Amino acid sequence: MLMRSILLVLLILFGSSAQADTQSSLHEPGRGELLYTTHCIACHNSQVHWRDRRLVTDWASLRAEVRRWQKISGLVWNDEDNAAVARYLNEHYYLYPASY
Ligand code: HEC
Repeated sequence: MLMRSILLVLLILFGSSAQADTQSSLHEPGRGELLYTTHCIACHNSQVHWRDRRLVTDWASLRAEVRRWQKISGLVWNDEDNAAVARYLNEHYYLYPASY
């Protein structure tokens, strides 16, 4: 009985978060996340964004690093794509005041 309740709770939690992911990727804020998880996450996990000696120190340098990395990765993102990924990283890791 307890096991069944736990499974039910897990199912509800997992089910609703999967649904939220699907929904958010349909909207503009989801685009940065989608691009990042598709092209960038392969060789760094989230740790790279909160290590002590990080390269990114404000919104401008975050924008510059995203631009630099998409170029290194051989992608041809336009400014909107770069901004979407920078926004995604800022909202999830850096939390710098930003002009967007
Ligand atoms: C080839 C492996 C690789 C790929 C692919 C890659 N990165 Fe990185 N990234 C790194 C490494 C390694 C560092 C740490 C660089 C350093 O310390 O000089 C880094 C650092 C960064 C930083 C700076 C983190 C900080 O706060 O210091 C940002 C921002 C970043 N990457 C964004 C991206 C984005 C956006 C993409 C996708 C377009 C991407 N990276 C793809 C390997 C990669």
